[in-house]
Amino acid sequence: MHNNIDDNSNKLLKLDFNENSLGMADSAKEAITNALTGGARYPDKHRATLLSKVAAINGVPEKQVLLGNGSIESIRAVVQMLHDKALKTSVGFQLIVPDPTFGCAELYALSLGIPVVKVPLTRDDYDLDFDNLKKAGAVFDGISLFYLCNPNNPTAIITAQDKLKSWLQQAPKNHYFLLDEAYFGYITEPNFESGVEWIKQDLSDNLIVVRTFSKLFGLAGLRVGYAIANPQLIAEIGSLMSTDNINMLGAVAAIATLEDEAFLVHSLQTTNRARQMMETALDELGLRYLPSQTNFIFYAVNGDVPTYIDRMREHGIAVGREFPSIPGFNRITLGTPEEMTIVIEALQLFREKGWV
Ligand SMILES: Cc1ncc(COP(=O)(O)O)c(C=O)c1O
Repeated sequence: MHNNIDDNSNKLLKLDFNENSLGMADSAKEAITNALTGGARYPDKHRATLLSKVAAINGVPEKQVLLGNGSIESIRAVVQMLHDKALKTSVGFQLIVPDPTFGCAELYALSLGIPVVKVPLTRDDYDLDFDNLKKAGAVFDGISLFYLCNPNNPTAIITAQDKLKSWLQQAPKNHYFLLDEAYFGYITEPNFESGVEWIKQDLSDNLIVVRTFSKLFGLAGLRVGYAIANPQLIAEIGSLMSTDNINMLGAVAAIATLEDEAFLVHSLQTTNRARQMMETALDELGLRYLPSQTNFIFYAVNGDVPTYIDRMREHGIAVGREFPSIPGFNRITLGTPEEMTIVIEALQLFREKGWV
């Protein structure tokens, strides 16, 4: 999924994968160092502590939580579980995704030979096209899984919550919803309602939410994520995940970071400051951007995106890949203020050269 093999990558500003430029919390590093002597033991104790903490912060019982090797392990298991369910009951199974969105669910589905239906975002505001998503499910005779990333990657925007909520409530029994809330911790919209709250309210029997420690918590390389759903779904999904999938170092780092309020506040404030800086610069340059609710921003570059990506790279900055279904836009991670200063200087130079 990620290509880090690049001779120049050490010198590049890595603003392409929405990682946390601050790095891990010091408390996480210390927890890892202290735990190293226990590396010969299985991770059960730390896994159990993390499970109970994740359940507690989300206000759900442990039987409604699955820890995963990153959130993508849960995404994979959900796809596999519904594929198996469809085979057992001799019905079809399809994955429906908005276009563009984060690609993992699609990749896993394709590897299992599952058809994937892509429904373009609306052209005016780049939100989910609810009518066409529903239609794609309605015309299919079998199980449909809707993978919906909220806020979406690459657009960084949250979807119309009221529409999503009423759709979930009214959806047919063979429609499942996988809400990916990888960027939940960055949301500033006060009216945002998480799918976790809807699970607690029993709004739908077919709703799964996934979250990650890779972004706000700064632990992408440690691979810790989780899924929340009703107990029955969690049991079904969990049966397809590895038993000891959280390694000890990931578990202790996640526990330490969860307890490190100062780091989490600093992490959020750093991204908020970076967002402000980018928005001001983009306003000054008259470049359109979507209202980011994440640690990245999707903005217009006034021209050919692959050329822009190459030029940024030549200036030492790795930016997000091209998303061909939204031409003329680029995704960039909101890093530290120092990093954003370098990005803004590059953008200003590009303007002088007439490139953006
Ligand atoms: C929407 C979304 N989900 C999941 C992931 C990956 O999460 P994890 O590192 O927990 O597997 C990403 C990473 O960029 C993402 O953007």
